[in-house]
Amino acid sequence: MNKKNSLILALDVLSRDKALELTEQLVDHFDAIKVGYPLILHAGLGIVEEISSISPVIADLKIADTPNTNRLICEAVLGAGADAIIAQAFPGKDSLVACADCAESFGADLFVVTEMSHPGAEQFMAPLAERMARLAVESGASGVVAPATRPERIRMIRSIIGDKLIISPGVGAQGGSAGEALQAGADYLIVGRSVYGSADPVAQAKELAAQVEQSRRSN
Ligand code: C5P
Repeated sequence: MNKKNSLILALDVLSRDKALELTEQLVDHFDAIKVGYPLILHAGLGIVEEISSISPVIADLKIADTPNTNRLICEAVLGAGADAIIAQAFPGKDSLVACADCAESFGADLFVVTEMSHPGAEQFMAPLAERMARLAVESGASGVVAPATRPERIRMIRSIIGDKLIISPGVGAQGGSAGEALQAGADYLIVGRSVYGSADPVAQAKELAAQVEQSRRSN
């Protein structure tokens, strides 16, 4: 993933046509497009192949199964053209290593969820986030997913993972601040509804780019 804008679009729309229209409109404003169950279940795995011909794709399937099943899921989505996958750490090291090995064989990146960005993540995930971040490093992941809604948690995760990447959802619709997440150590912001759900997605993307630029200047 080439870092230009420090922005990743979470494309959780449900139709192939809408997804491709937004991808064409927004490709220059985002470093990658993240697709997950909402779009893949509605449009089929072929949408990964179509979008990946326009932009780098992160497949956010939050993979969380046995090592063998994890491998089968990774092979399917990386084989369809995704450049990166997102997996959960909680099934344990063998499951995560299966994802890391598969990503490596495709020359793809693996991002590991340490803690999700919604309020409920504080219940079970946050207390284990440090251990999951360590496991991500041990397993050879490219980076982790950490919540822009809780910048102090990004800081803590950064202290554990060194120079691995942090991709961070929660800006916009979930209330997180772009500037605070970047200052806390996020490398990329993942933004969905506040862009694709807006009347003018390109204007929203430009506004985010301005916030990223402002944060870079104040560093
Ligand atoms: O629409 P919104 O900006 O809230 O989109 C955030 C995206 O990031 C969604 O696709 C959501 O599934 C995803 N995500 C998250 N928290 C994580 C990992 C992914 O919100 N830890």
